[in-house]
Amino acid sequence: MEAAVFSRPVERHAFGWLVAANALGVWLAALLLWPELGRLTGPLGYGRWMPLHLNWQLYGWCSLPLVGALAAWFVRPDAEGRWHLRLALSAWSLALALGGASWLAGVTSGKLFLDWHGWARPLLPLAMLALWAVLALHAWWRRREFSGGGLALRVALLLGLLAVPNLLFWAEGREVYPAVNPDSGGATGASLLGSTLGILVIFGLLPAMLRVPAGKVRAARWFWPALALSWVAYARVSHGDASHHAPEQIAALGLLLAWVPLLAVYLTGFGWHESARPWLHAALAWWALLVATGFLTFLPGLSEAWKFTNALVAHAHLAMAGLVTSINLMVLRQLRGGGTRRGFWLWQGGCAVHVAVLLLAGTLEAGRELEWYLRAGWTQAFYGVRLAAGVAMLTASVQWWREARV
Ligand code: HEM
Ligand code: HEM
Repeated sequence: MEAAVFSRPVERHAFGWLVAANALGVWLAALLLWPELGRLTGPLGYGRWMPLHLNWQLYGWCSLPLVGALAAWFVRPDAEGRWHLRLALSAWSLALALGGASWLAGVTSGKLFLDWHGWARPLLPLAMLALWAVLALHAWWRRREFSGGGLALRVALLLGLLAVPNLLFWAEGREVYPAVNPDSGGATGASLLGSTLGILVIFGLLPAMLRVPAGKVRAARWFWPALALSWVAYARVSHGDASHHAPEQIAALGLLLAWVPLLAVYLTGFGWHESARPWLHAALAWWALLVATGFLTFLPGLSEAWKFTNALVAHAHLAMAGLVTSINLMVLRQLRGGGTRRGFWLWQGGCAVHVAVLLLAGTLEAGRELEWYLRAGWTQAFYGVRLAAGVAMLTASVQWWREARV
């Protein structure tokens, strides 16, 4: 595992942000249970902390393990490569820390996951460019080491990655808005399909980037043609504002149901490291649950019942704390091995309870908003169980962060 040379610095940054963002999640969960705690932090109330929880999870924890996978694919695994990667990781973490300061100060665009605003707007795009420069330099230095196809794939990926900081900077603007579903104000079927297919491209590339040996099933043969066909279907669906009542939008999103078995057969067709395998299986279970319940969330009737309720908060945690976190642990364990059963079950158990209790709360919520507002006993019980589940998840992440330091 020559790529193990990168895994420690990546783990330190990635788990560090997971711990920080989880600690804020626990703080937010405590505030929902006992709002009077908010007096302790004066003007820094719930709304000021919320973007830190969201953005540190997405751009810190959800992103940095994938930076580790990119490093394993591009960067020369020696002391110099490790030093270059450390510089790029430090720039990234500095951007996140400064971003946190700006959101606490109330400087934000007000757009979910695109809060970077004012002086903070260029921070993350600049950190992305620094990382891109490291990857591009190493690809150039190592061009003779890579086979013809391998080099072409890396150049194509570099060209694609160059678009990301520019797109992010543009999307952060308050004047830019995506297509919306006029009947819900939320995402359209086409945009949900597009973003999930994008995630499938990343999942599909992981075995090659991490050099996971192919197993008995020659799954790679059909994965990419099937994904290309799905992108063709995506291109043919209407991309403007479109309702979740439109059969075309429902059918487009329904296409993802086929990807539940397809992704499972593909990823299990590789010979993953022993310590990565439990995370792979957990990720596939979360994936099946996410696609099935995500599809239901879009359907007329359920969409209205779950809108603005804890059921959507459950969905967000199922997707990110369940699926993305399991994929990321699979990546990190593939790079360096390690990890304990206790950490695995603490996270999975905590996350399953977290998601289940919020989904149930969301289902019971409609029509009983006043009871939530007045903090009736049963609503406090839901929030209490969620807080306990959050503490279990925080404990697991602290354990991983400590293991990464030794
Ligand atoms: C890793 C993948 C995914 C992530 C990170 C994710 C994340 C999110 C987030 C953060 C929200 C906003 C929640 C809120 O407004 O409170 C959301 C909404 C939603 N998601 Fe996902 N999601 C993912 C995959 C999916 C999939 C696969 C589907 C469908 C098959 C789906 C369907 C929906 C629907 C229908 C909504 C509600 C849109 C509305 O407000 O009307 N999501 N998702
Ligand atoms: C220690 C574990 C965690 C706790 C206690 C926690 C707690 C919370 C709380 C209290 C909220 C606000 C919900 C509301 O306004 O009603 C929230 C929102 C959110 N959290 Fe967490 N969280 C945890 C872990 C995570 C992780 C690991 C991720 C992603 C990797 C994540 C992603 C999100 C997202 C995307 C939202 C926005 C949901 C929405 O608007 O629908 N959380 N979390």
